[in-house]
Amino acid sequence: MSLWTPGIMAHHKNLVFMTLLVFGMVLSGLIYISTNQNSCGPQIIEQVFRMPEEKLRNFGLRSSPGFMYNQPSVLVGRTDVVSMTPWLAPIIWEGTFDPKLIDSIHKHHNLTIATTLFALGKYTRFLKDFLESAEEHYFVGFQVHYYLFTDQPEAVPEVKMGENHHLTVRIVPSMDRWQDISMGRMEILETLMENELANKADYIFCLDVDTKFYGRWGVETLGRLVGVLHPWFFDYPRDQFTYERRQESQAFIPAGEGDYYYTAAAFGGSLADVHHLTKTCRKQLNIDAANSIEAIWHEESHLNKYFVYNKPSKVLSPEYLWRDINISVGQVKIIRFSHVAKNNAEVRPNV
Ligand code: UDP
Ligand code: GAL
Ligand code: MN
Repeated sequence: MSLWTPGIMAHHKNLVFMTLLVFGMVLSGLIYISTNQNSCGPQIIEQVFRMPEEKLRNFGLRSSPGFMYNQPSVLVGRTDVVSMTPWLAPIIWEGTFDPKLIDSIHKHHNLTIATTLFALGKYTRFLKDFLESAEEHYFVGFQVHYYLFTDQPEAVPEVKMGENHHLTVRIVPSMDRWQDISMGRMEILETLMENELANKADYIFCLDVDTKFYGRWGVETLGRLVGVLHPWFFDYPRDQFTYERRQESQAFIPAGEGDYYYTAAAFGGSLADVHHLTKTCRKQLNIDAANSIEAIWHEESHLNKYFVYNKPSKVLSPEYLWRDINISVGQVKIIRFSHVAKNNAEVRPNV
């Protein structure tokens, strides 16, 4: 007996018809997309964050003929510290780069490094030391644009800026809780990058103001997404990191996950990457606020969560954020940038 009974035949015809219909729809969809790509493309690009023109250039690692520097070795170098993450991002320690060479390579790039700072309430007292020490050690010889956010522009000290270094002061409203000031930075940074920096800077660093430079912080720190190791936890097992451990928070990191504990007192990278970071953290902070939960270390907890799933392309050793009160450890051969000792109860608006 034939399987093609009239009922099955009709069913089969329907199936063929349906298949042809779907195929036709997909095909016309594809033709539509391909013919409209030119008019559609730029519109989409207009909507998303635009890369600064500088970033679209290909930064070759060019060196000049006749430029002399020490011969690099493939056998001799730092062996007391790890200078590469397991995802092959360099970890920057003294002795892992040649400052003279790396400066000369980057001189060709005409870079501008935006640097953001917040000094609200009594934290304006940290500005003088921060700015004076930065002008001695921070990207000397390169273009730096500081953006300082404060509620008291009159308290900003006169500090002589080095060549190609500029300071812009922005007024922001004061706040009653230090946690809100600290967390609120993410949204202000996000907005700054969106509205103003797109074509004005190549890289950005966001730094705490209760800090001081003691040594070089230069182009060796530049990268797409840059995290700095917190000075207290670089030799801790991951389960002792002070990550947010409550599942209810967007900053939650499960036990057994995470690479390092990063500080929120310094982070940076390309504008596009740091914009994405600040936008993500701002959104996560808002969700937490709506759920009446505040992560254990505020935006630092959210930053750590972000870095677990968006690995930094460069990691700075604790040389790039020490604590004036930390005891010395052998591996940290130079302190470049450090949190100054402060009496929290005295400087903060709340406890
Ligand atoms: N901040 C401020 N005024 C305040 C509290 C905080 O300007 O009253 C800013 C300042 O830039 C500071 C940052 O928020 O460096 C982070 O706060 P804090 O340094 O107190 O946090 P910690 O590093 O002690 O965790
Ligand atoms: C403290 C620091 C805080 C936070 C915390 C994380 O030393 O003052 O800002 O980073 O460590 O555990
Ligand atoms: Mn601080």
